[in-house]
Amino acid sequence: MKKVIVTGSLNIDMSITAPYCPKGGETLTGGGFAVNCGGKGANQATACAKLGGNTLMCGCVGGDEFGDRLIRNLREAGADTRFIRRVGNAPTGTAMILITEGQNRIVLDRGANACLREADIDAALAEATAGDIYLTQLENPAETIGYGLKRAKEAGLITILNPAPADRAIEGYFRYVDFITPNESELDLFGGRERLFANGIRCVITTRGGDGYEYACGGTVKRYPCKRVEVVDTTGAGDTFCGGMAAMLARGADVERAMTFGSAAASLACTRKGAAASVPTSEETERFLSEG
Ligand code: RIB
Repeated sequence: MKKVIVTGSLNIDMSITAPYCPKGGETLTGGGFAVNCGGKGANQATACAKLGGNTLMCGCVGGDEFGDRLIRNLREAGADTRFIRRVGNAPTGTAMILITEGQNRIVLDRGANACLREADIDAALAEATAGDIYLTQLENPAETIGYGLKRAKEAGLITILNPAPADRAIEGYFRYVDFITPNESELDLFGGRERLFANGIRCVITTRGGDGYEYACGGTVKRYPCKRVEVVDTTGAGDTFCGGMAAMLARGADVERAMTFGSAAASLACTRKGAAASVPTSEETERFLSEG
């Protein structure tokens, strides 16, 4: 089986649920406070590993207990954590998440994620061979993420960029991207599909929340619905889509099957609380898909 190298962020998520989003100066009583493992990189690596991909995570955490917890969590999911570097003088990345009506709003302190270096990526990529999958996002410095895309492409890997949070500093590296997976607001920020193609990206997969996703590649544009579920918490659903898709590609599936699988896993993740914690197993996802 091919390997999936996930380069990206690891965060501790502190989430709270509220009846609505408070205005400036307002204090509002919410509930359900939870401290969970998250970070777009770690969520995608967890999803990839739990969904059957041979997964290696590259990133940085602080020297604190949160860092221990994130590494342990990824190991338990089955990912290779040897390329997660501990940064002694930085805190682990933290995300404050407000959940209202099933939707989340996130404020992030990058912490150790800001310390990711080119050398970290070089070390992880030394484990890869041509044809492996390289999956990354934008919670680390854009130049470092861009460097990784370039190196991965030059080494013959299939590159997937989840451009979240959207940062136009990455545009200069688009020519090294095979698949980009923006949501609708990220797609707008990058100027739409045609602009992505003009900048050298091969295929655009736009995730559209409860409305499914759209695949545009080589002149073909296709829309796909997603399976309807009772939404509890959407945090990490996009990450589960990306991780599930990467796992399936690594297992030898074609893009259509990989997207269907990623989307089903993401729907299931929406029925559970938390980010990494909401990722279903491969068996649960297959069962859900076979339910029609
Ligand atoms: O995509 C969801 C993730 O975004 C959360 O886990 C949070 O850590 C932020 O990075």
